[in-house]
Amino acid sequence: PRSIWLSRHGESEYNLTGQIGGDSNLSERGWRYAKRLPELVLKSLGEENKHTNLTVWTSTLKRTQQTSSFLPYKRKLQWKALDELDAGECDGMTYEEIEKTFPEDFKARDDDKYEYRYRGGESYRDIVIRLEPIIMELERQENILIITHQAVLRCLYAYFMNVPQEESPWMSIPLHTLIKLEPRAYSTLVSRIKADI
Ligand code: F6P
Repeated sequence: PRSIWLSRHGESEYNLTGQIGGDSNLSERGWRYAKRLPELVLKSLGEENKHTNLTVWTSTLKRTQQTSSFLPYKRKLQWKALDELDAGECDGMTYEEIEKTFPEDFKARDDDKYEYRYRGGESYRDIVIRLEPIIMELERQENILIITHQAVLRCLYAYFMNVPQEESPWMSIPLHTLIKLEPRAYSTLVSRIKADI
């Protein structure tokens, strides 16, 4: 039966400085996760399925491609639709800087994180809409490993777990964790493997 694997990219330079968005490289620790990922995937496949060929989907941003770079699978595809939430004018800022520069926006986002749209950027609802073609394609495919970003993963995870999308902005999707989803008729089985790095 088909499975879908999900992972955030490894820790990035921006994760370390607390800046949002951008297109930074992985940190040293992020690279360690990238190197460990093939082993996590094998562990998740189990001995009898270790030769299963996965297709790897990433965003167009460097940190997801770097995270995929040690995976031994030939089919790797980049999707713009998997790029992180576009923070518009706030791209590259820390949450503290946003609160100082745009206090009203900061509050509005906290009040309704799902609907709040960054100035010149996106809301979670916008992400859900741009993920539609991804979800359609996923339903037709087998054994896809998706390496993408926090906000995008929250929306994908909510979709497969049947959680109302309005709750997705608050869900916890930790770094350095491989999530395996096995969709079944009435529910989805989930298992998580955390890399110890
Ligand atoms: O901080 C990492 C990050 O992926 C940012 O690039 C993005 O804006 C943010 O997380 C999304 O999380 P939240 O919606 O909780 O701010």
